[in-house]
Amino acid sequence: MGNGLTVCPYSVHRRQRRLVQPAFHRDRLPAYAAVMTRYADALTAAWQDGQDIVPGEEMYDVTVRVAATTLFGTRVTDAEVAEIRQAIGAVLAGGFRRMVTPVALAGLPTPANRRYVQAKHTLFAAVRRTVDQRRHSDDDGSILATFLATQNEAGALSETEVYDQVLSLLVAGVDTTACALGWACLLLSRHPEIQERLHREARAVLGGRAATWEDLPRLEMAERVLTESLRLRPPVWLLSRTVTRDALLAGHRVPAGATVLIGQHILHQRADLFARPEDFDPDRWLASTTPRNPRDGFIPFSSGARQCIGNDFAIAEATLVLATVADRWRLEDRDPNGSFRPVPRIVLAPPKKPLRIHRRPDSTDSAG
Ligand code: HEM
Repeated sequence: MGNGLTVCPYSVHRRQRRLVQPAFHRDRLPAYAAVMTRYADALTAAWQDGQDIVPGEEMYDVTVRVAATTLFGTRVTDAEVAEIRQAIGAVLAGGFRRMVTPVALAGLPTPANRRYVQAKHTLFAAVRRTVDQRRHSDDDGSILATFLATQNEAGALSETEVYDQVLSLLVAGVDTTACALGWACLLLSRHPEIQERLHREARAVLGGRAATWEDLPRLEMAERVLTESLRLRPPVWLLSRTVTRDALLAGHRVPAGATVLIGQHILHQRADLFARPEDFDPDRWLASTTPRNPRDGFIPFSSGARQCIGNDFAIAEATLVLATVADRWRLEDRDPNGSFRPVPRIVLAPPKKPLRIHRRPDSTDSAG
């Protein structure tokens, strides 16, 4: 995966983070949100009444488009988006297989290994080509343009570092956000009363138009639904850390060099932290006693130096899409007793379960 922010070693992380940070400064978010609004609108306007959709797949489509457009600018072509979409999917699927395969077998020329290496080449080549075509363009406010222009106390990103950061963002930002949204839709379909309350909020704020950055402060229920979804089904479900010096952790000796795995989906279901942890209860976030801080055990975006850099981006995107969906559509699970089991991949993916969608009356299906 190159040497971008998600995978680079500790020794170079601080410098890279300083160089990537300006693209995620809060004042950049309203422009990215305009892209999110556009694709939330397009998605929910294209659906047909009575159609069956697989939420995870629909949401993946939106998050790929949002990532490609915010990264490369609004002139990104449909062909470029399609190529990136296909390549990230193949790389992530193969990447997980590699993670759980013994190292000795990873290099064997099995069909799966060959497919993974091929997918990686395709993604790297697509990123290089797309970046190179824009290297000398005007600053269009895209994340790439910011990377190319950033020069600060940490220096500037080299040519290879720019490719690596773009790769890192695609790999870290697309599937995770699609997974969060996919789960939120499935959970809402299983909790019609919560879905109705969310619809009422969305209708009062949006009245049929797609949600925008300015609407976010009033989409409180949407934000709570998303937060609860991130608690119950955190897209990133396993983190790893390497211990840098001998330490004591909850009474256990952990030697320098050891790997510690942190399973946030387990942490988020501890009854001593979250009352009735298995319940989907967005209103728990109204109580001041519910731990919201990483320090208290709520870590969907991790914590510390390597905390998700796209945290605010992802929350804005997921909230805007969710509110737009809830205003315009009702999601029905026609198999309410069917399996709801998560599919463990690099993310904790929702099952490919179809939902029937019903158009809400009086929606205008257009933005603005
Ligand atoms: C709901 C969606 C998302 C979730 C749950 C999520 C979760 C996470 C987590 C848990 C980490 C930390 C990994 C670790 O500590 O080892 C992380 C890191 C990261 N995420 Fe996200 N993420 C999401 C969306 C995004 C988006 C939209 C972007 C970019 C636009 C992004 C970019 C990154 C990057 C670059 C890192 C590495 C940060 C570093 O090491 O300094 N993520 N993410």
